[in-house]
Amino acid sequence: MSNQVATVRNYDPFTPEAMADPNAFLHRIRAESPLAWLPRLDAYLLTRHADVTAALRDKRMETANMSRVLQRLTPAEQEELALVRRSIEMWMGHTVPADHVRFQRLLKRYFTPAMVDRLRPRVREFTHELLDAVAAKGQMDVVRDLAYPLPSNVIAEMLGMPVSDREQLQAWSRDIRGVFGNGDLQQLREAQRSMIEMHDYLRLIAADRRRAPRDDVLSTFMAAEAEGIVTEDEAVANCVLLLFAGHETTANLITNGLVLLFEHPDQLLRLRQNPGLSPLAVEEMLRCDGPAGVIGRVTMEPVELAGHPVPAGKHIYLALMAANRDPEVFPDPDVFDIGRERSRVLSFGMGTYYCLGAALARMETDECLRILLDRFPRLRPAYRAPDWQPTLPIGHRLETLPVAF
Ligand code: HEM
Repeated sequence: MSNQVATVRNYDPFTPEAMADPNAFLHRIRAESPLAWLPRLDAYLLTRHADVTAALRDKRMETANMSRVLQRLTPAEQEELALVRRSIEMWMGHTVPADHVRFQRLLKRYFTPAMVDRLRPRVREFTHELLDAVAAKGQMDVVRDLAYPLPSNVIAEMLGMPVSDREQLQAWSRDIRGVFGNGDLQQLREAQRSMIEMHDYLRLIAADRRRAPRDDVLSTFMAAEAEGIVTEDEAVANCVLLLFAGHETTANLITNGLVLLFEHPDQLLRLRQNPGLSPLAVEEMLRCDGPAGVIGRVTMEPVELAGHPVPAGKHIYLALMAANRDPEVFPDPDVFDIGRERSRVLSFGMGTYYCLGAALARMETDECLRILLDRFPRLRPAYRAPDWQPTLPIGHRLETLPVAF
């Protein structure tokens, strides 16, 4: 690679070409302008593995996942939606670094390898239950019938919610994700209403766990509350964060992974013949089409990015999905190869904010796809083209995924 620093070029991620093929768009940017400027988003973009890794490790940049749409509202609207804002400000990763460390230490008490082992048989049961419900029909929509309910049920289990309230959790999750939508006021109001309902509900469970702790997240939080480490408000806000962080992401990994298998019948056959490859196949799905493809940062001090000075207070997008296909690190990066050695995939981030649920999401996807392929040997797509919907700022997710078996 040349040591010459390329100029910073402008790009528009909202052209039809960029939205239709985000990977091709990012390949072009990586080759032409390692630090790129997105005028329509008022933000820089990094695409090379080395630059994204350096940025993830750089403590002069903090997370900027908090909905920028909230900041663009009028003062009256901001007042009306103050609860959403206050709540998100308590989410770990959106807090000042000292609070972030406090929440992280605390949640690491719960997110242990033992917790993943404990949940594994439940994930198997949930997957079988969901497949039992559609088995006789010979067809299903994987998004609606499997990929969305599964991680939601797992989070319900982690929160200690009774089975009868699982559907309620999915409804809250659907509404609350509106906070990260396009800023539609009605959507934001609905998100706030559901957030209030979910907070009230979680407070009831919290009260119970104070009296009689169990093996769930709220019990961990309530023990920490007794030690003076966390408040009830912080605990319930961070339970909502777990729902937000672990639901749609895991669902999208399951659906995107399945589409990759359908698009590469040789790899699907290879997996069917060698189910032991499943954990590596999940890594390759994360690399080729992982959710959370682009994450945000803000510079707290002046920094140098890809050889260019960038002042404090600038928004930077880190394209994990582009880093995962950087030919400098991954030979033949566009080839989906489920036997590829697991290495340097950035789909769960790195460093300070590394995903707490990474092992859980890997296990859920592994178990879910393993059982799905095992139970339905004739599983096949029932669509002409995948129903991709563009996501902000760059990327895509499936709205539906009809299959027959
Ligand atoms: C395939 C599924 C998932 C993907 C691709 C994913 C991705 C990520 C990424 C990229 C980050 C870092 C964000 C940043 O650096 O700004 C992150 C953080 C986080 N994730 Fe995940 N995640 C997934 C599943 C989950 C699950 C299942 C949970 C828990 C139930 C979870 C909980 C979290 C939490 C709490 C953080 C914040 C960590 C911190 O700030 O220290 N994630 N995730």
